[in-house]
Amino acid sequence: MTVLVTGGAGYIGSHTCLELLQTGQDVLVLDNLANSSEEPLRRVQEITGKHLDFVEGDIRDTELLDKLFSQRQIDSVVHFAGLKAVGESTQIPLDYYENNVWGSVNLLQAMQRAGVCKFVFSSSATVYGDPHTVPILENFPLKVTNPYGRTKLMVEDICRDLASSDNRWQIALLRYFNPAGAHPSGRIGEQPSGIPNNLVPYITQVAIGKREFLSVFGDDYDTPDGTGVRDYLHVVDLAIGHLKALDRLGTQQGCVAYNLGTGQGYSVLQMVKAFEKASSKEIPYQITPRRPGDIACCYADPAFAEAELNWKAEKGLDEMMADSWRWQSQNPEGFGE
Ligand code: NAD
Ligand code: WQD
Repeated sequence: MTVLVTGGAGYIGSHTCLELLQTGQDVLVLDNLANSSEEPLRRVQEITGKHLDFVEGDIRDTELLDKLFSQRQIDSVVHFAGLKAVGESTQIPLDYYENNVWGSVNLLQAMQRAGVCKFVFSSSATVYGDPHTVPILENFPLKVTNPYGRTKLMVEDICRDLASSDNRWQIALLRYFNPAGAHPSGRIGEQPSGIPNNLVPYITQVAIGKREFLSVFGDDYDTPDGTGVRDYLHVVDLAIGHLKALDRLGTQQGCVAYNLGTGQGYSVLQMVKAFEKASSKEIPYQITPRRPGDIACCYADPAFAEAELNWKAEKGLDEMMADSWRWQSQNPEGFGE
């Protein structure tokens, strides 16, 4: 049986394909390469010594989806494909709704026609908005503040409605906290396009001299050192979370949301220090005004995922930073052109 991985050439998708191959699963990747290339998939096969199938195409292409589901014995779908830049989503919201919401509906319809009912969806901690308290539990109120977040919440709602309408659906909504790090081989990692939005890729680009200094967005938050606190999660742990979710779908009924985080928050300045320790590089930084839309503090209560999925983040901050640095220093241009 094959796992269809949409967006499998991307950052989290490629790490997940690697883990799937290592556990002997057949993998079919569908990716339009809008934010990636085939190179990570070539490297995943090189690292694992195993083959995966790749189709360059779009989740919005109904005919292509029907063809894939009829030609292949697809048992489950792990759905990463989508656009993910919060700032960009406020500039081109229709592209985000079309890609992330309509694309997901199209995919779910094709699954329904094919009778494939196991679905793992890349959701995000962004669906909690600015939580009243931390750590965040899955039953906290859902509240989004930007179009990107709204696409994630809309797809979650669609999945809940779908599972209520037909009890054959088995759906896991995985709410990722802040993925960071890279595969320990140093061969695959995150390649942001243009100026990185996220903290860790920005830090690693400062370390290789591609950026002059890090802007620390605000030091007047109500946190121990005044800088923002987040739950950074190693991408390999996150990838393994998808395998655990797929295992659980065998017996899980309906649509269930799981927090994938470590339960531990770190501030921006703690992240800078941890990276300096791992890389022996100094990271110059300047305190700048808060970034609009940012919140002070966000970290998971991951107990439900541990109890239900038998999943727990194993890798700590030092390993995350060492792996980020290995990836960035060995691949200063990412995967190249
Ligand atoms: P990514 O951009 O590296 O990967 C997404 C992949 O999807 C890319 O390879 C892209 O080419 C592909 N894609 C985009 N639109 C497509 C379409 N219409 N058809 C087919 N392929 C398409 O992003 P990532 O960081 O690996 O994130 C994966 C998923 O996890 C996304 O849905 C993202 O919203 C979600 N997520 C990411 C984070 C994060 O911080 N990275 C946090 C929470 C949730
Ligand atoms: C982390 C901390 C910043 C960059 C975003 C999305 C979220 C999810 C993950 C997809 C914050 C600070 C950052 C910089 C800084 N993506 N920072 N200087 O904002 O928690 O989450 O990515 O679902 O939806 O919103 O992550 O890495 O951008 O920021 O000081 O150059 O680092 O203020 O406190 P964030 P981030």
